[in-house]
Amino acid sequence: MVNWLKDAVFYEIYPQSFYDTNADGIGDIPGITQKLGYVQGLGCNALWLNPCFDSPFKDAGYDVRDYKKVAPRYGTNEDLKALFAAAHARGMHVLLDLVPGHTSEEHAWFKASSAPEKNDLSGRYIWTDSWIENGDGMPFIAGEAARCGTYVLNFFKCQPALNYGYGRCRRPWQQPITGPDAMATRDAIWDVMRFWLDAGCDGFRVDMADSLVKNDTPQKRYTCAVWRDLSARLKRHAPEAVMVSEWNHPAQSLKAGFDMDFMLDWQGNGYSWLVRNYDGATEGVPKNIGKAYFCKDSTTDITKFLDDWLPSYEASRKHGLYCLITGNHDTLRISAGLDEAERRLAFATLFTLPGAPFLYYGDEIGMRYQNLPTKEGGYNRTGSRTPMQWDQSANLGFSAAPAEKLYLPVDPAPDAPTVAAQEDDPGSLLGTVRSILAFRHSRPALAADAPFAVEYAEKGRRAFAWRRGRGRGALLCAVNPAGTACDVPLASLPHRMEPVFRLGGEPTVKNAAITLPPQSFAVFALD
Ligand code: NOJ
Ligand code: CA
Repeated sequence: MVNWLKDAVFYEIYPQSFYDTNADGIGDIPGITQKLGYVQGLGCNALWLNPCFDSPFKDAGYDVRDYKKVAPRYGTNEDLKALFAAAHARGMHVLLDLVPGHTSEEHAWFKASSAPEKNDLSGRYIWTDSWIENGDGMPFIAGEAARCGTYVLNFFKCQPALNYGYGRCRRPWQQPITGPDAMATRDAIWDVMRFWLDAGCDGFRVDMADSLVKNDTPQKRYTCAVWRDLSARLKRHAPEAVMVSEWNHPAQSLKAGFDMDFMLDWQGNGYSWLVRNYDGATEGVPKNIGKAYFCKDSTTDITKFLDDWLPSYEASRKHGLYCLITGNHDTLRISAGLDEAERRLAFATLFTLPGAPFLYYGDEIGMRYQNLPTKEGGYNRTGSRTPMQWDQSANLGFSAAPAEKLYLPVDPAPDAPTVAAQEDDPGSLLGTVRSILAFRHSRPALAADAPFAVEYAEKGRRAFAWRRGRGRGALLCAVNPAGTACDVPLASLPHRMEPVFRLGGEPTVKNAAITLPPQSFAVFALD
C-alpha cells in the first residue's frame, strides 16, 4: 500500500460551498488554498474535492463539459496547481473527482459523437444503430440528435454514457471492451488522468466506478478488467498516486486496482444502521429518527453494522482500504439523525476503525441539514451542500457577496454552529474531532491498515469493543452509545490495560469486564 495512506485522514470539500475569496457568492479554489491551515489543524491531511471542472452544472459538476479545464466559477487551472503546491508544502495530498462513466451532453466529444457523419468520436458514447432502437435495458434518449440512433444514459438525462464496451454483446451496436472505440475511450480517460497527475494531483475519487462496462457479469468481470488496466497505468506513471472508488464492494474494486473503496449509505445497509436509518431521507424530511446504533435510546446493536461491514473488510484487507465516511454530498448530514453527544461517539468510532476515514466539510462543527429547494440536480442532497460556517460575520464568514447572491443560503438559525465559536473550546464538537484525530495520528495501531479484531459484539447488547494493532502498542477501543452503563465482558483480561483516551465518564475494569459509563468511548493500551 502507498505509504501516505496509512496515516491519511480525508476531508471532503464541496468547492462551491467552502470559502469565497472574490465575493461572487460561490466558493473557489483560492478559498480552499486559504483554508488549508484550518483543515490541517483539524487533523485531516488529505482532501477530496468534488468535481471542479467546466460544466453546465446540471448535476453540480458531475456533468463535465471539459475535463481539462477548471470551471471559471472556481478559478483557473493555475489556481488548482497552486492548491496542489500549497497542500504538498504542508505534507498534504489532494484527490480530484474523476467522472469516467459519463460526460455532460455539452462535452465536445458528445457534440461530435451526435453528428450524422461518421467521425473519430462517433463511437465515444453508446449509440444504438437506429432512431427507433431501445437501450437494451439501459435508460436511453431518442429523438434528440441529428444522428440516426438513440444513446444510452449513465445517470441523469444530461449524462450520456461513455463507451467502454459490453461484457456480453447481444446487439449489433454493442462492442466488446477491447473494441476499437471502447479502447479509445479508455485511452481518452487515461489522458485526462495523466493531465491532472502531471499538474500535481495525488489521485482520484472515482465516480460510479462500477458502472463503466454495460451488460457486465454480476462479479463485474469486465469493468474490473478496465480498472486493472487503468490503475496499472496510474501506478506506472505516478507510483504514489491513489484512487478511491465509489463502488461499495471492496472485494471487487480493490482487486481491480483501487487503493480504497467507500462503504456507501444505502437504506438498510450496515452503514445506515450505524448512523442513519430513518425514514423520509429522499424527501429531505427525516422521520422516525432514533433507530441507528449511535442513537442513545435505540435498541440496535452493533451486529447490524458488522454483519455487512465485516465480511467485506475481511475479504479486502490484504488488498487495500474499505473507508468509512461521516457523510458526503449525496447523504443527509449526519446531524440529521444523531444529536451532538451521539455524534461524538460516532466520530470516535468511525475514526478508530480500519480504513482511511473521510470527514465531510462542516460535520466537524455540527452543520445542520437544511430543507431547501433543489439546486443543480441536488434534490434532497441540496440541504447538505450549504456554505461552510466560519464565524458570526455576514453570511457566516463564507462570502462577502450580498446574501441573495450566495450559491445556497447559509444556515439561518441564530445558533448556527461556526468554527469561530468552537475554535478555542476543547470541549466543543470541533475540539473533540481534533482530539480524536490527534490521538489517531499518535498511535501506529490506529493506522488505516493496522490489524483489527472484534473483541466484543453481542446481539441485543449495546456495547462494542475492538482491538487495533498487535503486540507492542496494541489498543482496545470500546464504545457504549446507550444512556445506561454497559459491561464489556472480556474472555481474558490482558496483562496490562492502561486507559489512554476517553470521551464521557471514566470506565472501570474489574471481574473480567470493563464497565463503560452511559454514552462513553474509551481506549486502553494493552502492552
Ligand atoms: C455519484 C455522485 O456522488 C453524485 O453526486 C452524482 O450525482 C452521481 N454519481 C452521477 O455522477
Ligand atoms: Ca468565488
